[in-house]
Amino acid sequence: MNTLTTTAQAPAPIETREQVMQRAKSESLISPRFYTTDFAALERMDMSPLREQWEAMLAEYEGDNNHDHFTRDEEAFRREVRELPPELHQEFLDFLITSITSEFSGCVLYNEIRKRVDNPDIKRLMTYLTRDESRHANFINHSLRDYGLGVDLANLKATKATTYFKPKYILYATTSRRRSATRATSPSTGSSSATRTSASTRSSGGSSAGATTNSGTARASR
Ligand SMILES: [Fe+2]
Repeated sequence: MNTLTTTAQAPAPIETREQVMQRAKSESLISPRFYTTDFAALERMDMSPLREQWEAMLAEYEGDNNHDHFTRDEEAFRREVRELPPELHQEFLDFLITSITSEFSGCVLYNEIRKRVDNPDIKRLMTYLTRDESRHANFINHSLRDYGLGVDLANLKATKATTYFKPKYILYATTSRRRSATRATSPSTGSSSATRTSASTRSSGGSSAGATTNSGTARASR
């Protein structure tokens, strides 16, 4: 009987800035992507049915209460940079590259929406999101620089392929993220945001972009 064997291909080592860029640009089933979306659909979104909740969410963004999480103490970080076993070192670099690609992907998409959409509600949200994701990406890039590496973000933006992402998923990702954070300090908010979100999708026939709260749904045409 023949024995079927498979050989897992080890990823190329990450040792230079060029290899960092290659890894950041690589495409696989699970690698983070860059996105574009339906800007016209976002333009048409009407948040008035959930005005109170929408304003509360934006007030949280405006408060920027986790700003201090991304303040870098250079001396403390320098002390933490240490030699890791080679395999762990590679995994850590891979983790940083994947993370920065993901954070910067959000930053690019949100900033593009902010520039191309005049809808004041969407524009305000995207302004805050761009601020946050830019901060996250730069924070991680500093960590890569601790190892003498770093991602050329302008080059990455110019050369990485983009994938279409429905507006409703953008809203799910942004509003669910904020609600999840709220739930962590507010255990009385009832069912999970994921449950409420999927219920909203069903009620809107699966064709509307819905941003839901406990008491309302905002809709767009797709
Ligand atoms: Fe982020």
